[in-house]
Amino acid sequence: MRKLFLSLILSAALVVPATALWAHEPGTYESPIVEQRVKRFKQSGGDIQAIFKKHMGAGNFTAIEEAAALMAVWGEEMPDAFPTGSNSVGADPAIWENFSDFENKADAFAKAAAKLNAAAASGNAGAVKKAAQALGGTCKSCHQSYRIKH
Ligand code: HEC
Repeated sequence: MRKLFLSLILSAALVVPATALWAHEPGTYESPIVEQRVKRFKQSGGDIQAIFKKHMGAGNFTAIEEAAALMAVWGEEMPDAFPTGSNSVGADPAIWENFSDFENKADAFAKAAAKLNAAAASGNAGAVKKAAQALGGTCKSCHQSYRIKH
């Protein structure tokens, strides 16, 4: 009996972090708008990884151009994805206290993505690398102020 109790505690300890990791499984979002924006962030995350780990090495400028274009549009639309009251576990409430700053950071992201798009179109590997790093910096800058890692 005591052994069973112990294993129950142990498995509970394992289950809790796993649940927290998967808090964003479909159907567990705070609202459809939160679900949608998280989807677009995940797309950006996957795209930027592919840019650094795959496309740059392979010289696949077309793929970089396409991913950057998608991110530029996302950057322009991002403030609309954060209407007042759309709080979520991942979004710091400071977003709505400093909304114009949040908008500026989204704009910096959109502009950096447009620059990467242009660099990829030019086919200049050095310019692409520089622009991709600058783009990554805009993700980080916003996350530091407004994303809650959970
Ligand atoms: C202007 C602010 C801003 C910019 C720019 C930004 N993010 Fe985010 N990001 C956020 C916020 C806020 C959240 C949390 C959203 C939520 O959970 O409601 C987030 C969440 C995420 C997530 C987690 C999604 C999940 O699974 O919950 C990823 C991945 C991500 N961002 C990647 C990126 C990448 C990559 C870039 C740049 C290419 C980027 N973000 C640019 C603000 C930003």
